[in-house]
Amino acid sequence: MEVIVVPTNVEVGRLGAAEVAAVAAAKPSAVIGLATGSSPESLYAGLRERVTAGEISFAEARGFALDEYVGLPLEHPQSYAGVIRRTVVEPLGFHPSRMRVPDGLAPDLDAAATAYEAAIAEAGGIDIQILGIGTNGHIGFNEPTSSFASRTRVKTLAPRTREDNSRFFDSVEEVPIHCLTQGLGTILEAKRLLLVAQGPGKAAAIAAAVEGPLSSFVPASALQLHEHATVIVDEAAAAELRLTDYYRFSRDHRLVRAAAAA
Ligand code: F6R
Repeated sequence: MEVIVVPTNVEVGRLGAAEVAAVAAAKPSAVIGLATGSSPESLYAGLRERVTAGEISFAEARGFALDEYVGLPLEHPQSYAGVIRRTVVEPLGFHPSRMRVPDGLAPDLDAAATAYEAAIAEAGGIDIQILGIGTNGHIGFNEPTSSFASRTRVKTLAPRTREDNSRFFDSVEEVPIHCLTQGLGTILEAKRLLLVAQGPGKAAAIAAAVEGPLSSFVPASALQLHEHATVIVDEAAAAELRLTDYYRFSRDHRLVRAAAAA
């Protein structure tokens, strides 16, 4: 795992955008996995700058959101279908027909989950999966004790997640109880994982995920199993890491190999 500590959220976004842009530039039809919420906002802003400058295009790319609330009407501002449309599809120029979000309104949610897995496979798999992390260590909505082998499925949101996400709603009672989320097994099959985190509220979760034991109690620790996972955090989110000096040292002495430089 590569851990990169940068001073502020602005740099998290800039560096995160550079990682995604490199994938999109190398493969215009890249399949991008997308998180919602606050964490990737600066990264999406960084990508928007590059799209506006004509450096990259997502016109041929495909996208798969990580998760969706169950039962939230599409016109609700927090429906992730709407969030993805407003924060990714429109500003970054994805074609709407090449963007998928799990169908949290499907009459048969299990069938919708199976169809989502099939769509990812049919697209050839996810080239880079953008992730945020919950204060309880979840990725996607894989709450603590989610199996590392789990696939897209219905999950019950943890009370802490509903509390954290209540800032997007009028009250915690309005936060849906259930969601459809890519599983940890689904996420681990992406060719690259890119997790971004900012602020002191994420410090404990980041330390547990990056330096703690592999445990389904900390779902983000599953990144330790992936051969190409990058974690970009600001100083506040890095505050509880123990090996920060090493992460800085290794970044300062990054060896650029011929294949990577080409
Ligand atoms: C949302 C998602 C979640 C969030 C996490 C952090 O699609 O996958 O795992 O990334 O809950 O949320 P924020 O970024 O709002 O702090």
